[in-house]
Amino acid sequence: MKLTFAPLEGITGADFRRLHAQMFGGADRYYAPFIAPDPSGCLKVSRLRDLLPENNAQLPLVPQILANSAEAFVETARQLRDLGYEEINLNIGCPSGTVVSKHKGAALLAEPEALRRLLDGIYAGSPLPVSVKTRLGFQSTDEFPALLEIYNDYPIAELTIHARDRAGQYKSVPDRQMLLWALAHSRAPVCCNGNLFRPGDLAALDGAERFMLGRGAVMNPALFRELRGGGGLEREELRDFAAALREISRERLSAAHTLAWLKELWYYWKWLFPGEKKLLKAIFKAREMDDYSKAATALFAGGAFMPDARFEGSDTFLFSS
Ligand SMILES: Cc1cc2nc3c(=O)[nH]c(=O)nc-3n(C[C@H](O)[C@H](O)[C@H](O)COP(=O)(O)O)c2cc1C
Repeated sequence: MKLTFAPLEGITGADFRRLHAQMFGGADRYYAPFIAPDPSGCLKVSRLRDLLPENNAQLPLVPQILANSAEAFVETARQLRDLGYEEINLNIGCPSGTVVSKHKGAALLAEPEALRRLLDGIYAGSPLPVSVKTRLGFQSTDEFPALLEIYNDYPIAELTIHARDRAGQYKSVPDRQMLLWALAHSRAPVCCNGNLFRPGDLAALDGAERFMLGRGAVMNPALFRELRGGGGLEREELRDFAAALREISRERLSAAHTLAWLKELWYYWKWLFPGEKKLLKAIFKAREMDDYSKAATALFAGGAFMPDARFEGSDTFLFSS
């Protein structure tokens, strides 16, 4: 079994990855959130920082590129090779409106000729093996057999499949049947992704050996350890992880940005305390770091902790009343 931590833009940056590996034993591999080079292959400094080897402590890391120009992809891949990377991932799944309107990410699922042109250029010019992260379709997961005909024409190092169509964003029920079909018909090894939150979700994918875990592993950072037969998440280690993330972020970001980031993480962690509406509310309402720290301390000290709870979606607020 090969376990990968999914790229989650805004969450699984270098600091998160490093601390996760140090405190929980890590995943077999991490994907970095996408970088989007300009047409000449130039990268923003802030994005490059996330990929600098000194910020990633020799983690097994695969950078991901979001591009619709083979030239920009290849130029960026050269720069990443010079940093020491050995594989690059191409993002053909990002569903966001701003990305799709630029004919990037999931847009390519609905543009087969543009997709072929891009793959032709990338596989002709890339200095490194290229894996692909895709969805099952744009409007419908039934589009996948036609897409796989395209993918099967290229030497894709690994095909990660988020088992939804673009229309399903992060909410629709993953199409397990089509994912199983892909496992049987893909030339490239398939890595399964989408709502794999608990060990049983992986076991249900008969024959699969490669899995990518995203939101479930943010909620439960010990999930990889658990899947390897180790212990489940302990309240104290989540407390220490949250505190370490706060400290490392404060070294680099303003207090306001740190607070916003911590609240984003609590959209995942809140599911571990399903009965603690009042204490959770205090975290989300905190305006200053001191208020946040008091609220988090109270929750970790006295809140009922349910490490086996299931992640239910980051935008479904637990306590709307
Ligand atoms: C906040 C957020 C940011 C994401 N950023 C990326 C990204 O940069 N690149 C990418 O390929 N997928 C990205 N994804 C998709 C995830 O990698 C993953 O495919 C998706 O969440 C489904 O897996 P999960 O159900 O295990 O979370 C993002 C998802 C979320 C929720």
